[in-house]
Amino acid sequence: MARIVGVVCTSHVPAIGNAIARGWQQEAYWKPFFDAYPAVHAWLEKVRPDGVVMLYNDHGLNFFLDKLPTFAIGAAERYSNADEGWGLPTIDPFPGYPALSWHLIESLVAEEFDLTSCQEMLVDHAFTVPMQLLWPRGAPWPVRTIPVCINTVQHPLPSAARCYKLGRAIGRALSAFPQDARVLVIGSGGLSHQLDGARAGFINKPFDELCLTQLVHQPEALIHYSNAELVRLAGTQGIELLMWIAARATLSEPVVKVHSHYHIPISNTASGLLVLEQETAVRNRDSEARAA
Ligand code: DHB
Ligand code: FE
Repeated sequence: MARIVGVVCTSHVPAIGNAIARGWQQEAYWKPFFDAYPAVHAWLEKVRPDGVVMLYNDHGLNFFLDKLPTFAIGAAERYSNADEGWGLPTIDPFPGYPALSWHLIESLVAEEFDLTSCQEMLVDHAFTVPMQLLWPRGAPWPVRTIPVCINTVQHPLPSAARCYKLGRAIGRALSAFPQDARVLVIGSGGLSHQLDGARAGFINKPFDELCLTQLVHQPEALIHYSNAELVRLAGTQGIELLMWIAARATLSEPVVKVHSHYHIPISNTASGLLVLEQETAVRNRDSEARAA
């Protein structure tokens, strides 16, 4: 059976990828941001995921305005980075997990989520940056990956309530996978940011802090916001909060916060990090450690 070992929600600002490529982790601007991640690396050592479901938003790379699925899922053997942003050094391709992809597709379509299944898929910074932050040694990547895209490019976007339901359905599907797997769910994006228009540079710290709190114990409080309200509260690109809501929804209650971090700004973004685990998983891990 597949087990969700936890959820990591993290910002994916492309400048982070540039800082990694240049080795700037200890520079004054970057240190307060990167210092949050060793605690996550230590936690990953303990929970040992072998698969990743990455809930992220493609930024017009793999999908563009001509064809834009609301939800899409990769079912490829591997995924290559093709982010056009910073002229970064090549990132080794990420291994896919077709058996689990097809299981998710079967389960989700049966639950009336009609995702677009993609046997080829290019990934952008929203996929690569969380991977590099969580596994800074890079390739060979220690996990097989499944990209799941939520449309944040072309209106109408799916609502927070719909993304929450998608996350619940992914959680149910994972627990019904017949093979053993230890899956980490990643929510990529946010927190508040707006890159253009009259409010460019907009950041809303009180709202971000509210989200960081409610995502732990009361995620359903966030699903009543309309997307127009989320954009007003979090900025146009802050709508990436939808990924965090979907990722959080894959966990069953009760949930424990393992780690969190908030740092303003990275580029134009309020950078956020939240690591969650099911309380039962923490208890099982503690008793396994005592027995060992
Ligand atoms: C920035 C943030 C993003 O989420 C993104 O996709 C691109 C740029 C930024 O703050 O620079
Ligand atoms: Fe983004």
